Amino acid sequence: MERFGASFLVAAAVTFLLGFFLQGVMPVITLSTLATKTVEEVADPITPHFSQLASDYPEEFQRYFGEVSVASHAKALRIGRDAYIAEACFHCHSQFVRPVSNEDLRFGPVSKPEEYQNHMNLPHLFGTRRVGPDLIREAGVHSNDWHAAHLYAPRNVAPYSVMPSYPWFFDENKKPNEKGLALIAYLQWLGSWVDENGTITAPGSGGM
Ligand code: HEC
Repeated sequence: MERFGASFLVAAAVTFLLGFFLQGVMPVITLSTLATKTVEEVADPITPHFSQLASDYPEEFQRYFGEVSVASHAKALRIGRDAYIAEACFHCHSQFVRPVSNEDLRFGPVSKPEEYQNHMNLPHLFGTRRVGPDLIREAGVHSNDWHAAHLYAPRNVAPYSVMPSYPWFFDENKKPNEKGLALIAYLQWLGSWVDENGTITAPGSGGM
C-alpha cells in the first residue's frame, strides 16, 4: 500500500506539471509575441451606426461623446464593453459562431481567431450560455432605435423575451444616456468587420 501511495503522488505531480506546461506555459510562449490591436486601432473604421447615433440623439451624443471621431468611437466602445461586462450580458449571450450545428446559417460566418486579437477581448467575452442569440454578428441586424427600445424594455419589441429591462441606461427623457449610447455603439460594432460576402477581416483592418 505504501508503495502505491507514492506512485499516485508522483503520477499526480507529473500530470499537474504536464497540464501546467501545455495549458499555461505553451500558450504564453506562442501567443505573447503576437501583436494585439489597441481599442483605438479597432475603432477605425468608424461604423455607420456610430455616426447615425450622433444624428439620432444629437444632444445626448454631443454631451457624452462630442464629435464623431475615431477617439470618440474608441471611448464609446470601451464604455459599452465595460457595461456589457458589468451587466453580465455574457451570462445569456455568446460571442462566438462555432463550426458545428449549422450555426453559420443562423448567426453568420464562423468565427476566426484574428477577430479576437485585440484589447476589446481582454477579457474575451465568448460566453458559455445562449439564453439569447449569439452577438458576434450583431452589427446592422437591428437599427439603433430598435436597440434603444429593446434595452429599455425587451418585451416591447420581442413579446416573449426573458431578457431583463435596463432602464438605467436611459435618462429622464427616456433617451439613452452615456452608457446606453455606448452599449448600442458596442453592439453595432460587433461583427462590423465582416463584409456582405461573409469575408472576415480582423477588426480595424478597414473591412466593412
Ligand atoms: C436572462 C438572459 C439575458 C440577459 C442577462 C441579457 N439578454 Fe439579451 N437577449 C436574451 C434573449 C432571450 C433574447 C432574445 C429575445 C429578444 O430579442 O429579447 C435576447 C436578445 C438580445 C439582442 C437581440 C439579438 C438579435 O439579433 O435579435 C441583443 C442585442 C441583446 N439581447 C443584448 C443584450 C445586452 C447588451 C445585455 C446586457 C445589458 C443582454 N442582452 C442581457 C436574453 C438575455
